[in-house]
Amino acid sequence: MKMGLLHLIPRDLKPADIFIAFLFMTFLYILHFYYKHFTRVNPLPGPFPIPLIGSFDIFKGDIDAWFYRLNKEYGHEGVYELTIAGKRQIVITHAEHIESILRHVTRTANDGLLDLFDLDKKGLALNHDYNHWKFNRRIFSPAIMSLTSLNYSPKLSQIENVLFDEMSKYWIDLKQKHEDVIIIDMAAWARRFICDFTSYLTTEKRSNTIHYYHRKLKNEVVTKEMIESEEFIENIKFFVSDNQFAFIPKLIKGLPFIKNRVKRLLDNNHSFYKRLEEIVRKKRKEIEKNINNNDYDFKSKQLDLLTSLIITNTPHDPQPQKNIDPSLSRPMTDAEIRGVLFDAFVIGADTTVNTFCFVLYYVSHNPNVKKKLFEEIKSVFNDDLNRHVTISDLEKLKYCEAIIKEAVRIRPTVSLNTRYCNQPEEVAGYKWPKDMIFIMYSRGINNSSLYWENPEKFIPERHYEPQGVERQQHKNSFLMFGKGPRLCPGRKLAMVELKTLITLVYRKFDVELVDMQAPLNVETSTFTFIKELNIKLIPRELKIHS
Ligand code: HEM
Repeated sequence: MKMGLLHLIPRDLKPADIFIAFLFMTFLYILHFYYKHFTRVNPLPGPFPIPLIGSFDIFKGDIDAWFYRLNKEYGHEGVYELTIAGKRQIVITHAEHIESILRHVTRTANDGLLDLFDLDKKGLALNHDYNHWKFNRRIFSPAIMSLTSLNYSPKLSQIENVLFDEMSKYWIDLKQKHEDVIIIDMAAWARRFICDFTSYLTTEKRSNTIHYYHRKLKNEVVTKEMIESEEFIENIKFFVSDNQFAFIPKLIKGLPFIKNRVKRLLDNNHSFYKRLEEIVRKKRKEIEKNINNNDYDFKSKQLDLLTSLIITNTPHDPQPQKNIDPSLSRPMTDAEIRGVLFDAFVIGADTTVNTFCFVLYYVSHNPNVKKKLFEEIKSVFNDDLNRHVTISDLEKLKYCEAIIKEAVRIRPTVSLNTRYCNQPEEVAGYKWPKDMIFIMYSRGINNSSLYWENPEKFIPERHYEPQGVERQQHKNSFLMFGKGPRLCPGRKLAMVELKTLITLVYRKFDVELVDMQAPLNVETSTFTFIKELNIKLIPRELKIHS
């Protein structure tokens, strides 16, 4: 019995027979694939598909650049199709066609390797199990939103100011004697800054990656703690740049050139999960100790993200949810908390770092915008370069907010946003059967002359003055944080983080690009990842005193 079906294979089978059988099966598969392709419903223009793979371009690395090219070739009618990893996908390039898709809750179909990566039922962003997603979302959303509440936000800005003070000291320290400028790779610093900041918001204990990076640049000794923090960054970086291997069909995961990439990504994630779970376990112990010693009043405290996640739906929950479905009223397990922390560190940090760097890039290319931004900062802070930026300051920084929106419009960090429709749906004037995947190509919509005048120009006033250059032409032509049930839960936090950081940087330094001719140096998978942004920082103190 142990042999299972093996006894059915004839004993005298020769390698040549196996090879012929393999060829025959492959031939049948290809025949079936193209039969399905040529008899598909609603055939649309798009690149001709290759069985199993769809297109080799998916493995070339820069997926965003590939979509940009496809949009130029096939996007003008508002909808085209392509096959990714053997699955037909419909790409929407006009804002008019996305409303009906946005109400769907699932983002991906359950046919890649997400379950192998333990991401299919964990967290939010890649979770495609409705019940698990709903449970996680109901706990994560209020926990992350509460960080920007009146109660917590003073602490939030305090943390960001203190971290920035530390980072800017490191920058000044890197200034060469007799030089007026400091040259840094802002992408590398921003990634570490946001990681240290997110760690603090999560646990009230910071990681040490900006400190590590400074020491590394100065060739100074680094501690074990710093190396561990830095490994955290490496885990995030690796997943962001290689995650397309979590979406490939199971059938091809063993192919020679794919197998190793899948394994490397898996190893990476397992070590990252271990780190995250260790953080959760430590915090849980700390909370239990405090409860046992009776020295913690959750109601009066400003709770960090992790504490909120751990105590929700426990007797210590300061804001118990009423009248909810009993399946949603249990506390989260450590593995579930690890899942949402993964989102905060990977999705939340990556989008914020990219957006921040894109702002610096576009502002440097638009001196008038830079001048207006600095004038706005001066109007709020006068010549005080050191006062902490508060939440009430941020409310006055409207132009700064418009700059962030314009940077995201012109170069969205989430340029592809998907919905999987598990029931028939009408989209772009076609009736579609269930089990279709739709890709909303935000970068194409955001940069379309159908909705934006001179879409290639960086004009923050579009989002700023009601009487300004123009208004958004269609309600869905700019969805910075998405829309519908999957709307970004970190949107408020992101805006606070970005406005504070931009203000702190431009208040203290004039910023210029080292190479004005260089394009944005990004790598894209299903995420965008800024690889490098070399800038010159000119301390404003020097300008005031000279
Ligand atoms: C400038 C920064 C950010 C941008 C541009 C951004 C943008 C987006 C977009 C476009 C989506 C998809 C929404 C949809 O499908 O309708 C999304 C989802 C998400 N974002 Fe953000 N985001 C940012 C920052 C953050 C931060 C700081 C966090 C948390 C710390 C966060 C956590 C998430 C999560 C968990 C999801 C998945 C939600 C779900 O599937 O239910 N994001 N974000």
